[in-house]
Amino acid sequence: MASQPAIEAHHLQKVYNTSRGIVRRTRQEIVAVKDVSFSVQRGELFGLVGPNGAGKTTTVKMLSTMLIPNSGNASVLGFDIEKDTKKIRERIGIVLGGERGLYTRVSAIDNLRYFGDLYGVPPATRNKRIKELLDLVGLSDRAKDRVESYSRGMKQRLHLAKGLINDPELIFMDEPTIGLDPEMARDTRNMIKDLSKAGKTIFLTTHYMFEADELCDRVAVIRSGEIAALDTPSGLKKYVMDTSVVEVEGFGITEREVSDFKKIPEVISVSADLEERKQILRIQTSKGSEIISEVQSILRNARIYDIKIKEPTLEDAYLRLVAS
Ligand SMILES: Nc1ncnc2c1ncn2[C@@H]1O[C@H](COP(=O)(O)OP(=O)(O)OP(=O)(O)O)[C@@H](O)[C@H]1O
Ligand SMILES: [Mg+2]
Repeated sequence: MASQPAIEAHHLQKVYNTSRGIVRRTRQEIVAVKDVSFSVQRGELFGLVGPNGAGKTTTVKMLSTMLIPNSGNASVLGFDIEKDTKKIRERIGIVLGGERGLYTRVSAIDNLRYFGDLYGVPPATRNKRIKELLDLVGLSDRAKDRVESYSRGMKQRLHLAKGLINDPELIFMDEPTIGLDPEMARDTRNMIKDLSKAGKTIFLTTHYMFEADELCDRVAVIRSGEIAALDTPSGLKKYVMDTSVVEVEGFGITEREVSDFKKIPEVISVSADLEERKQILRIQTSKGSEIISEVQSILRNARIYDIKIKEPTLEDAYLRLVAS
């Protein structure tokens, strides 16, 4: 049914059991995903963002049938994630970040042939598709070289090709641009846009809010295993419409002054880039422009080049939503 959502998740929960210690082993339960419900429409580019350990990868693994939830249920392309794993696996692609899931001792072509066979791609179509995918991700020239000789960016592009080998309707991408240089990250984002324009449903996790803002139709913010907010990027920005962001450009700003700003009750978040010669401090506050006199007072020993009041971005909304 075309009108049926691509993904429907109901109260998903995942608990990991781990044991710690060598002499006295103690069992520990980690609730990675507490209670996650949402739905993704067909053709949608849906983002899941959240801090480290919030439960993004665990959610992706449950939806892509790599992990069984402890409770709750979900359907993917109309199939149940626990009962219909084969039907789901045939129809989805999974793109993971880093080196996980590639055979590095063999070539890109060998990897794609192997995964093509695994997904049941008929040999006649398989070789044609491998050629097209290698062209798409710009690896044709190095296709016969061992993957271990590839740069990180090339491995990431091979991941993308691997995720597309079965011409999936729905693609899960877990931090597809992590570790890529800015140019490759931009190329990857453009490929994601093209896939979306071609009608694919995409479920993306990312740490980069500008990426979610640029790519996603809707974004869910996950915090400690629960969805804290779900909306379009501009809808999420409404969470910070009552705040303003003061951006200070200066020199000689120290960590101590950054923590002084964090102590002000009306300050919601402070981010600082103190490494460069031109330092940037962003202060999100509910206080309005009267914060400027406080900025000048706290930074009396630093040099201030410029102070601007800016429109809050998706990053500011995110920082507010995940602040505990
Ligand atoms: N195999 C595992 N065994 C035990 N605990 C795990 C396992 N995998 C993940 N966890 C824990 O579950 C929680 C959620 O992890 P998960 O990898 O889903 O988070 P994430 O949002 O993807 O984080 P990141 O942004 O770092 O990728 C974390 O506390 C993590 O330490
Ligand atoms: Mg993760």
